[in-house]
Amino acid sequence: MVFEKLQVKFIIVFLLCLVPIKAEGCCEDYCYECDTTTPFRSQYRNLGQRNSYDFIKGFNYQIYDMPGCTAQKIWTLVRHGTRYPSPQSMLELEKLENLRDEVVRLYDENNSLPAIGSLYKNDLQLITEWSWDKNITERYDEFLTVSGWNEIRDLAMVYKSVFPSLIGDSYSAEKFHFRHTDYQRTEGTFKAFAEGLFGEGAYNHFTIEKLPKLNMLLNPMDLCQKYRDNIATQNGLGTEMEKFRNTAIFQKLLADVSIKLGYATPPHQPLDSPTVLNIYEMCRFEKAWYPLKPSPWCAALTPSQFKILEYHEDLELYMKTSYGADVNLKLSCTAMDDMLTHLSTNTTQSVVAYFAHIDNIHALLTAMGAFRDTVPLRSDNFDQMGDRKWKTSEICPFSSNVAAVKYNCPNDVQEKEKVKFFLNQKILFLDWCDGNGVCNLSNVMDKYGEFNRGDCDQIFCSDSSNNSSSSNYINKLILMLVLLIVITFLFH
Ligand SMILES: *[C@@H]1O[C@H](CO)[C@@H](O)[C@H](O)[C@H]1NC(C)=O
Ligand SMILES: *[C@@H]1O[C@H](CO)[C@@H](O)[C@H](O)[C@H]1NC(C)=O
Ligand SMILES: *[C@@H]1O[C@H](CO)[C@@H](O)[C@H](O)[C@H]1NC(C)=O
Ligand SMILES: *[C@@H]1O[C@H](CO)[C@@H](O)[C@H](O)[C@H]1NC(C)=O
Ligand SMILES: *[C@@H]1O[C@H](CO)[C@@H](O)[C@H](O)[C@H]1NC(C)=O
Ligand SMILES: *[C@@H]1O[C@H](CO)[C@@H](O)[C@H](O)[C@H]1NC(C)=O
Repeated sequence: MVFEKLQVKFIIVFLLCLVPIKAEGCCEDYCYECDTTTPFRSQYRNLGQRNSYDFIKGFNYQIYDMPGCTAQKIWTLVRHGTRYPSPQSMLELEKLENLRDEVVRLYDENNSLPAIGSLYKNDLQLITEWSWDKNITERYDEFLTVSGWNEIRDLAMVYKSVFPSLIGDSYSAEKFHFRHTDYQRTEGTFKAFAEGLFGEGAYNHFTIEKLPKLNMLLNPMDLCQKYRDNIATQNGLGTEMEKFRNTAIFQKLLADVSIKLGYATPPHQPLDSPTVLNIYEMCRFEKAWYPLKPSPWCAALTPSQFKILEYHEDLELYMKTSYGADVNLKLSCTAMDDMLTHLSTNTTQSVVAYFAHIDNIHALLTAMGAFRDTVPLRSDNFDQMGDRKWKTSEICPFSSNVAAVKYNCPNDVQEKEKVKFFLNQKILFLDWCDGNGVCNLSNVMDKYGEFNRGDCDQIFCSDSSNNSSSSNYINKLILMLVLLIVITFLFH
């Protein structure tokens, strides 16, 4: 009797489970392996912070040419090239082997597949043949990959070809200034850059001092408690990212991916967001490691789903490392100061290059006021933000780099010293420079003057508004406490 009741209950639960997941509009019919959109499948431009540099970099080298002018100085900040995951992430990604086995089994059984939008044969084949590369172990903890090395070497080769007189044929410590953070991937990135400039093993002859582990130039994040507090807040509950994961848009994505992979019926639960985010992570890591090969887990996702996942990460990085938090506005003060000083002084040092991380690129662009949307990114405005400026995929792929080049233009009667900014081998347009991205050096110095006053130590970790209400509040609290102590003291 009890058993029968349970069975009835089970059937009811079973039926209930079927209802919500047979959602309307499922699923988009899409074959990843057959998508021949050139030059790359459309979703490859939307892989966020794990995008391959090859999908994003500019190819028009004429942008470096200024007729009648000579390039005199270059200052560049480079994010390390493509890397391996962290050991924790490796463990997570390896677990996709279990998902693979289950998907293959469900496709064999063929009784839980959607009528529209199931995996195409080629795509299923890719997933069937996929396995975690056992060679990738914790000993390669976030190490630079071969593809990462190549991206950076190629970038340096472009500089050598477009700025022949600025770079020259050989290294000298007076002319070149290179620094990197204390990680294998940034040191490797520096070496790859050196190889691109002056050939294999060239870096062995470079003089490069080690920066202190904590330094204002490349590690301001580690020196700013407010920055770390914000990161902790953003990793907590009630954040915009978490709210976005709870929107109908994101929930539908989870349901659709589940249905596509055959997880539509009990005993299967729909896939949760960590699993779908792992699918995305594996897809984009492999695309970055082997840009010319299809990456099996990408086949589980459609181009429109890539856009949703991209937004989810853009939102995260916007809140953690850019305009979403005021503490990021001046975090890059010392790097800005370094850039401005380099551009505006006549020294023998003509090439400055720093090798660091995505946070550094974001902080620098934020200090510059670049890619700032008038409407902030939020959990509830994905639909309106399709044309947003803040797109990590384009701003910050692996190997992303900001360059500022100073040109001397003797024929210009008004202002002979010009600056042009570049991002990922494309012109970085700022609305106060001209339509070709050419800025007067004097305007650059003016516009960014606050970073050049020699007080970065004081201002780098401040909220932009000098008198924030919270600090006023704390000040008042402290004042009251002091008064209380004084009064207590007097009356005893
Ligand atoms: C599942 O079965 C249907 C109906 O027999 C068939 O059309 C479809 O190709 C099968 N799908 C797979 C992946 O075997
Ligand atoms: C792993 O390393 C071995 C030995 O270097 C190599 O033969 C093999 O192809 C590698 N496997 C993968 C998946 O790259
Ligand atoms: C630096 O050199 C340029 C041209 O070589 C010159 O126009 C400029 O005035 C010099 N600047 C300083 C600060 O000496
Ligand atoms: C550069 O300065 C000159 C002279 O002050 C001015 O005419 C020109 O408009 C400026 N260019 C830009 C892009 O600001
Ligand atoms: C804040 O205001 C004080 C006094 O008005 C000023 O000295 C200081 O430079 C300001 N700090 C910032 C970060 O603007
Ligand atoms: C600072 O406080 C004053 C007076 O309380 C206010 O008028 C001003 O707008 C505040 N400035 C900023 C940048 O918040």
